[in-house]
Parts: sequence; C-alpha cells; structure tokens
Amino acid sequence: MYKTRDKIKWIWTNMEGFHAIYILGMIGTVIYNVLQLVVPFFSGKMIDMYLTGEDAVYNMEHHRNFFFILLGVMVGATFLRTIIVYVSCMAYEKGSQKVLYKVRSFLFEKILRQDMRFYSKYRTGDLMTRVTGDLDAVRHMIAWVIRAVIESFSLVMATAVYFFIMDWRVALAILSISPVIAIIIAQFKKHVAPRHKMLRERLAELNTDAQENIAGNRVVKAFAREEYEKEKFDKSSRAYAEQNEKTALTWLSYFPYVETLANMLPSILLLTGGIFMIAGTMTMGEYVAFSGLTWAISNPMRQVGNVMNEFQRFQAASDKVLEIYYSEATITDRPDAKDLTERFQGEIVFDHVSFAYPDEEAVAPVLRDISFTIKPGETLAIMGETGCGKTSLIQLIPRFYDPYEGRILIDGEDIKSFKLTDLRHQIGLATQDVLLYSDTIDGNIAYGDVDMPEKDVLKYAKYSAANGFIKAMPEGYDTIIGERGVGLSGGQKQRISLARALAIRPSILILDDTTSAVDLETEKQIQEGLANLDFPCTKIMIAQRISTTKNADHIMILKDGKILEMGNHEELIRQNGYYADLVRLQLGEEVLASMLAGKEGK
Ligand code: GTP
Ligand code: MG
Repeated sequence: MYKTRDKIKWIWTNMEGFHAIYILGMIGTVIYNVLQLVVPFFSGKMIDMYLTGEDAVYNMEHHRNFFFILLGVMVGATFLRTIIVYVSCMAYEKGSQKVLYKVRSFLFEKILRQDMRFYSKYRTGDLMTRVTGDLDAVRHMIAWVIRAVIESFSLVMATAVYFFIMDWRVALAILSISPVIAIIIAQFKKHVAPRHKMLRERLAELNTDAQENIAGNRVVKAFAREEYEKEKFDKSSRAYAEQNEKTALTWLSYFPYVETLANMLPSILLLTGGIFMIAGTMTMGEYVAFSGLTWAISNPMRQVGNVMNEFQRFQAASDKVLEIYYSEATITDRPDAKDLTERFQGEIVFDHVSFAYPDEEAVAPVLRDISFTIKPGETLAIMGETGCGKTSLIQLIPRFYDPYEGRILIDGEDIKSFKLTDLRHQIGLATQDVLLYSDTIDGNIAYGDVDMPEKDVLKYAKYSAANGFIKAMPEGYDTIIGERGVGLSGGQKQRISLARALAIRPSILILDDTTSAVDLETEKQIQEGLANLDFPCTKIMIAQRISTTKNADHIMILKDGKILEMGNHEELIRQNGYYADLVRLQLGEEVLASMLAGKEGK
C-alpha cells in the first residue's frame, strides 16, 4: 500500500528532536559490531606471535609486555563494547518511544476530528487495534528491527572486509553461499508477507468481537446469548491463534536450508583453510581468526527469519496506521472560513436542501428539497414516522454531514462559511442515542465547560428537571455514573444529556427525541424550563407527542424525507391531515373536534 521508503521517511519525520540520538545509536551499533572482530583479530595475532610462530619462544621472552598489551586491548575492547551496546540500546528505545507517543497522540486527534462517515466505516475494535497493537509493531521496527538489520549488516560487512584482508581466497569460498541466502530470503518474504497481513486482520476481528461484546453486554444478557457469543469469540480467537501459528511456522520450512548453510561454513573453512595451511600460505593464527569469526556470518543468517518476520509485521501494521494517519475528514473548514466572535441571532434557513448518506454506493436521498425558515428564538418541532429523516435533518445543522444540494443558512450566512468548531460551539445537541461518560454527573453536565461553577450546573439541571432526582442520589452531583450512563434510567439519562446541551448556553438548541422517555408531568416541567431559559435560543425539537410539540411556533411533518405539512398547531389542525390524525390518535376524537371548533383543548 505505502512504499517502505515512504514509511521510513514517515518514521524519520516523527522522530523530530531525536534524530541525533538515534543516529548515535546506529553509529554505536556499527562500532560495537566492528569491535566484535577485535578479539579474534588479537587472539590470532597472539597465537602467531607467542604460541605457534617460529619466533614464539623468543617473543615470549623478549616481548612479554606486548603480550599483555594485546591482552589488555582485548579486555578493554570487550568492556567498551558493553558500554556502547547499552548506550545505543537506550538511544533506540528513546527514539522509538518518542515516535510512538507522537504518532499515537496524532492518531487520536485524527480520529476525534473525523466526520460521521469515518465512524460508519471503521469499527471501534479495529481503530483500537490501530492505536495499540499496530502502533506497537511500528515501535518495534524502530527499537529492534532496524537495530537488528544494522547489526547484522555491519557485522557481516566488517567480517567480510577482514576476511578479504586476511586471505581473499578463503573469504570468497566462505561468502560464496551468500547468493543462496539471498534466494531463501526472497522466497521467505514472498511467502510470509501475506500471512502477516492476514494475522493483522484476525487480530482486529478478535478485538472488535471483544469490544462489541463488552460494550453490548446488556443485550447479550437480555437475550441470554452468552453461549453464542462465547462460541463466536472462541472462533475469532482460534482463527487468530491458528493464523499466528501458521505465520510462525512459515520460517520453520526455510530454517533447515539456512541451518545447513550455516553449518557448512566451518566445513568450507576447514577445507580451504586446510589446503592453504598445508601449502604454507596461511598461518595457524589466521586460521583461528577465521574460524573464530564464522559465527559473525552464520548468526546473522540465523537471525534473518526473525528480522524478516518482524519486518513483515511492521509492513502490515504500518499500512493500517498510515491509513488513519493520512485520512482526511471530508467535512472540514473552508480555507476562507471566518472566525465567529459573537453569538448567533439564531435564524435558521434551509434552502432547497437534499441529502443522502455518503457511505453507500448508489444511495437514495434521505431528505428531498427541504426548505423552511425559523426566526431567532422560535421553536420548530419535527414529527414524522420512524425513519422519515428527522435525525438526518438535524445532523446537517452542526455539519455532521453536508447536503448534496441546497444550502443551510444561519443568520443569513451559509454554515459552510463558519469554522466547524465555532459553529458547533453554538449548537447544543442532545442526541437520540444518549451517550454519557463514566464520570460524575457534575462532570457530565459541565462537559462543554469544565470550569463551570456548581451553581450553574445546578441551574441547567433545574431547567431540564433533573435536579430532583440527582439530589436524591446518595452522592448527588458527585455520583459517578458507569460507562454510557449505566446506573441511570432512560429518562434520567435524557435529562442529564439535556442539561449538558443547555450548559454550553447554545444559541441553537437541538433535541432529538429528548423527552421520549420521561413521564408527562416531568415533561411539562422541562417545557417550562425551556421556555424560561436565561439566554436567547432557537430550538429545534424532534418529538412524537402532541403535548411536546403543540406550543411550537412551527410544526413540521416529515414523510419519506419530504415536508408533508408545516405550520403551527392551529393551522395544522385546520389542514386536517397527518398532524390532525396524530391528535386524534393521541388525544382522542373529541379533543380534536373541540380543537377544530377553536376551543382550547388540553
Ligand atoms: P427515528 O429516529 O426512528 O424516529 O427516525 P428518523 O426520522 O430520525 O430517521 P433517520 O433520519 O435516522 O433516518 C432516515 C433514513 O436514513 C432511514 O432510512 C435510515 O435507514 C437512513 N440512515 C440513518 N442513518 C444512516 C447512516 O448512518 N447511513 C445510512 N446509509 N443510512 C442511514
Ligand atoms: Mg431519529
């Protein structure tokens, strides 16, 4: 998907501020691997000078000091190597953590700022996998894979150079196996890459399953579907385990070839080295140095599988991370969007608005040619049967979606000319599906303004008729509510969500069926609260009950995404259409008749 080069570049950019440390780490890796050659080099020298060479006895007597110097250098080099290993590992760790932190914060913000379309495309479990497991694979690449590659590479290169300096013929013989290794690596990569991709998908499925089950545990319980869900989860879990095994075993089928090659090295050396030694063109010391270093070639060979596996894991994971990293919300600020410094007056105009959800191919319009005007401070009630497009309509005002045709104006200006945050700051929204945070009630109400004084929190709770039940709770406003408001009734949740919407003192208040779960008496209190807000506010409320809607300045009846009727209570009664039918259904024929006769009907 993304090129490896671009990925490395991306990592590099995100390591800003830590480049020097990371480069130092890499240099350290090279140095300590070259230092590994010091010991065999000097032991070779020692053998030739003091043990097997022609002048060995003489050297031992007359150059004893040099013997100890050699010994000291060997010990010193080993010690130095240990320090460098430590420091360079720290550098990799620091660099990788830095990138991890930076990218994770960035991703989270990216996800937060996405539009609705994004959220209907990606499932929570999948997104969670991206910011955790996938990101960790990226970190592992920086902290381990890159280091391992540099380590192997510098070790092999240094050894090769050293071999060539000592005896190019033996060096050639030993390195003749490298093309075979290259072929094995290429084959392995071809084989294992798709497996890592699959493995990554399995993990995301597993996480999604777990997340949905935990979040939806009430439904699972209600339907007594624990067994079913457990089996489903088991299936995902097994699929993941099997894929994991398959991926891990891939290397196993290549391993024998690599191992055979690695084991051939000493034999090659024995053969060629032996011949040259017999011919007298190679000393015993050189032979020892060679054989003391065959591991420097064979170890990296054995490491190849590991490195390749981790690298492929990084490839699969980083594609997923980058997809989110570079994703762009389709609904964004226009370049010329202007700052809003004042409150809206609150006039809302829909001008021939048509809308379809963008998440499917060949979509049918959900709203068609909607036009209306509400003046500042007025109330619009929207009614209509389920699925007719009420929620879709109100979602266009804070620009959760944009219409494909027509314009929406607030105070005479297209809403697209405002900055999104400015626009949304002015809109108080209580959604149909109430979502509260696992926090105190106080914290939930003051969500839009954490510094809100307690007396204000109380005021908004009173507007939404929530003060009574909150006070009655053991810890009042400090009561912590569970995830998604567990521990509260549906009506209680709705009232807290209403208080939360009011607490930002919006100039436009949108309530999506917010009083559907409260009793009539409480609803009346809420109506009174809403009528007496201490700030001006245009209200749009979706509701099913005539009692909620009848005092609205405008009542809109939506049907199949089109406005069927629009007017105030009296006008619609007189039209004797859908609204009048609703009155008949909810309040009875007699009330309707008395309303038609112009009397006050309650
Ligand atoms: P109730 O809340 O049940 O009273 O219905 P509503 O009037 O609020 O309907 P809503 O606006 O939610 O939906 C209108 C139509 O849009 C329905 O046919 C839905 O199936 C469809 N719809 C709603 N949300 C989405 C969405 O996210 N994607 C797609 N493709 N369609 C959607
Ligand atoms: Mg709805």
